[in-house]
Amino acid sequence: MKTRIAVLVSGGGTNLQALIDARDRGELPHGELALVVSNKEGAYALERAEKAGIPAVVCQRAKGEPRGDFEARLLAILSGAKIDMIILAGFMAILSADFVSRYPERIINIHPSLIPSFCGEGYYGLRVHRAALDYGVKVTGATVHFVNEVPDGGRIIAQKAVDIMPDDTPETLQRRVMEQAEWILLPRAAEAVAKELGMGE
Ligand code: GAR
Repeated sequence: MKTRIAVLVSGGGTNLQALIDARDRGELPHGELALVVSNKEGAYALERAEKAGIPAVVCQRAKGEPRGDFEARLLAILSGAKIDMIILAGFMAILSADFVSRYPERIINIHPSLIPSFCGEGYYGLRVHRAALDYGVKVTGATVHFVNEVPDGGRIIAQKAVDIMPDDTPETLQRRVMEQAEWILLPRAAEAVAKELGMGE
């Protein structure tokens, strides 16, 4: 039995695409990309999922909706699809301690820096790369980690360093970190965790 994976997204979904491409190359033998959930309507990641034949749904937090209500809807979707493992792939919302306690060591996240640098609440997307450039570090990278109740604070699974170039902008740096680190690390970590979970069942 393959580990049933839900990929949670908010935007372009290039990391989702890396997972799909790995699956298509036979590099995700212990995992099934069973569901994509976007918390943003119209996210391009939804089209990527459809093209890849993966069921895709939108679960958006309504304005003023308590986080607990949003998470209850999300949990219902995940348990309805019998999901064993969750991948946060550019998912721009922080999940509560109550939510993550339902999937202990079963949620992984990709973060575009070398944790513990440039991480935690408020550090997401281009902001992470802007912070690295503002600080003046010469090396950054990406981290895949388990998700616990501390934003970007769970046990680290894999990291990869990427050099910063003198003329980098947040956009050029984001692209290099994706190409040289994120798209390689995430599918490998997904397979490793899916395999581990499959053995425990
Ligand atoms: C990626 O760089 C991912 O690491 C980052 O957002 C981007 C999403 O791109 N995630 C975070 O910053 C989480 N804190 P994608 O939608 O093309 O995969």
